[in-house]
Amino acid sequence: MAFLADALARIKPSATIAVTDKARALKAAGRDVIGLGAGEPDFDTPANIKAAGIKAIESGKAAKYTAVDGIPELKAAICAKFKKENGLDYKPSQIIVGTGGKQVLFNALMATINPGDEVVIPAPYWVSYPEIVALLGGTPVPVVTTMATGFKLTAEQLEKAITPKTKWLIFNSPSNPTGAAYTRDEIKALTDVLMKHPQVWVLTDDMYEHLVYDDFRFTTPAQVEPRLYERTLTLNGVSKAYCMTGWRIGYSGAPEHLTKAMAMLQSQSTSNPSAVAQWAAVEALTGPQDFIAKHNAIFKERRDLIVSMLNQANGIQCPKPEGAFYVYPSCAGTMGKTAPSGKTLATDEDFVTELLETEGVAVVHGSAFGAGPAFRISYATKTEDLEEAGKRIQRFCGNLK
Ligand SMILES: Cc1ncc(COP(=O)(O)O)c(C=O)c1O
Repeated sequence: MAFLADALARIKPSATIAVTDKARALKAAGRDVIGLGAGEPDFDTPANIKAAGIKAIESGKAAKYTAVDGIPELKAAICAKFKKENGLDYKPSQIIVGTGGKQVLFNALMATINPGDEVVIPAPYWVSYPEIVALLGGTPVPVVTTMATGFKLTAEQLEKAITPKTKWLIFNSPSNPTGAAYTRDEIKALTDVLMKHPQVWVLTDDMYEHLVYDDFRFTTPAQVEPRLYERTLTLNGVSKAYCMTGWRIGYSGAPEHLTKAMAMLQSQSTSNPSAVAQWAAVEALTGPQDFIAKHNAIFKERRDLIVSMLNQANGIQCPKPEGAFYVYPSCAGTMGKTAPSGKTLATDEDFVTELLETEGVAVVHGSAFGAGPAFRISYATKTEDLEEAGKRIQRFCGNLK
């Protein structure tokens, strides 16, 4: 009898974490490595948010368990955020706070997936979506989008992917890994399809909501189509916009019966998310928001820089996305060429491995996100490092034979 659970055979470790670990190990061994793999801002948590965490510790507010699904103060701040920024009315009983957006996503899927249930996932996708679905015995149904549609799912593609077994569409805008963000009209085209299929719910991952550039206006499915509110889970968190990836706070708004089921699961697994982090998140959501625009100005500059440098590299083609802090260039033009090591590039994994070995630039291969040959660059890194990485990528591509 096998000791480890059979379910483990259905999933693989996160490629993004693997790349980050590999870059860290090379750096520790003395190599000059620029890591463009990590999916987190390089900025520190703003001082007022840190202070709120410290105050929670010193005042004793963080010493005890809290309500499993979050402190009332944070739930109230989340309801106010949904109302003000998204025009969505959620009551505190419809909100759950978890240990990062990832736990909230996990709970939502665990609370709903039965064996054989299908989940439509536009590709390229965030690596965790199909893995969690598969772990829970569901069937991920990836739908590959292309550069031609800006890596956005079309209504026709969605219609074709839906079957009587479809339980969820996982929607992510702005997207990890492409940075693509859907306009109101683009979302409406998809919600029109969903209106025809009442068995399908939408799990909208709005984690990168605040990271949009060039006056792009963010919107979310339940706002675009209020009739979908009853079958929408709106997922968000403080990790990305508030530079709080290490604090681990995510949350969702959803119909009460789903939220209750998620809270029950959480009560039997992790209980409440860290009390310190919850108090810090209250400050994040209710305190000054001005640093977001300041960070975005820097992110936009970096996006423009790296897109322009990539498009000057031989065999690389890179669209300019609307948001997040990722770009997703195609390396199709380098396939079949030979690297300085003598290795012929047959896949995007070969491309990123050779790039790391030859030039010390760590990026993540597109096939890990379900669509290649391409790679993901996170530009949430110092501008000087990004520029140097751009030069190295140009040199690497220029040296391919
Ligand atoms: C699209 C997307 N959703 C959710 C998450 C999870 O965020 P958290 O760190 O809050 O768990 C991430 C983090 O990388 C992400 O990229």
